[in-house]
Amino acid sequence: MALAKEFGNLSKEEAQAVGNTGALELAMADRMIENVVGGMTLPLGIAVNFLINGKDYLIPMAIEEPSVVAAASNAARMARPTGGFRAHTTEPVMIGQIQLVDVPDPESARLRILEIKEEVLKLCNEKDPVLVKFGGGARDMEVRVIDTARGPMVIAHLLVDCRDAMGANAVNTMAEAAAPLLEEAAGGRVYLRIISNLAVKRLVRATATFGKEAIGGEDVVEGILQAYAFAAADPFRCATHNKGIMNGIDAVVIATGNDWRAIEAGAHSFAAMGGHYKPLTTWERDAEGNVVGTIELPLAVGLVGGATATHPTAKANVKLLGVNTAQELAQVIGSVGLAQNFAALRALATEGIQRGHMSLHARNIAVMAGAKVEEVDEVVERLLAVKVIRVDKAQEILKEIRRKD
Ligand code: MEV
Repeated sequence: MALAKEFGNLSKEEAQAVGNTGALELAMADRMIENVVGGMTLPLGIAVNFLINGKDYLIPMAIEEPSVVAAASNAARMARPTGGFRAHTTEPVMIGQIQLVDVPDPESARLRILEIKEEVLKLCNEKDPVLVKFGGGARDMEVRVIDTARGPMVIAHLLVDCRDAMGANAVNTMAEAAAPLLEEAAGGRVYLRIISNLAVKRLVRATATFGKEAIGGEDVVEGILQAYAFAAADPFRCATHNKGIMNGIDAVVIATGNDWRAIEAGAHSFAAMGGHYKPLTTWERDAEGNVVGTIELPLAVGLVGGATATHPTAKANVKLLGVNTAQELAQVIGSVGLAQNFAALRALATEGIQRGHMSLHARNIAVMAGAKVEEVDEVVERLLAVKVIRVDKAQEILKEIRRKD
């Protein structure tokens, strides 16, 4: 840290801001990644009103963006009278890819690999007796031949039930262990042996009905359907539609110490799978005129291993959530994604999102302008009154307040 402080010309206060690791002890942070000098804390909020599969949840969300936690809570409140969210997951199966190149006869090599499947699975399971003890393990193998710029490649997919682990370690270990057997059977050369984040075998699905009256009437339902049709037809809108969903999903993924880059990669590659980037949600009208949403995406989250098991805040958040399995955690996260999307579409199709954003934005601007805790409220009030939410305006207001005192 001393070196970084000197190199970056940091003041004592700035060095302390970088060095602050929050609830995570520096020694622990140092064991998690390399070259550790401090921590990076995010606000942690709790989303309320969530009823999922008949169970109430308080949902921790770590995110720097204003309005997200409030929007999720608000959407969850509107879903309650119609029973809240219904969610389920597939089995927690991840894919490990093994790449074989320079295979002279790729199609028959594919069959030769499939013939030794049981032997490969047995070897993989010997590599992870703990996972097997907890009911997981290598379950199956699929083999594809793909065309690439460097000729055909034989790609084997190991299907591994990861139970309550995210599974990257288990899957990568198994893929590396299996590779020599596959190479021998196929007759080519193995290069990559790595998990795929396009976790199509580990999906979460959730649905909720939002009553026409509860959400503001027929016009709101129509607006949500128009917004969805827009996203489904246009990738420019669809990117933002899905970004709103990920606002909710990532916040819970981060709060529980899970790998949000893996979740992001999985979500967007899943959205693009048919060759056309599509919304992760659907919206339709039911027979009573209510609006029904569904969400479906890969969600590889774990409860054991990684930061979930070591970061004290993540551990406490998981306890607060009260989830018993990684699948239950995925169901909660999928429901938050759906709620977030509903809240965004409803706001966008009615008053727009800026009004809700503005008061929180004004708070940030007040703090940036140098307002002390006891000055923030007045600065915010006056910024909103004049409808100019800028740092220079906040500084001008601050000067006036201080002159008055
Ligand atoms: C902002 O972070 C997210 C939204 O843009 C999502 C959307 O447009 O659907 C509001």
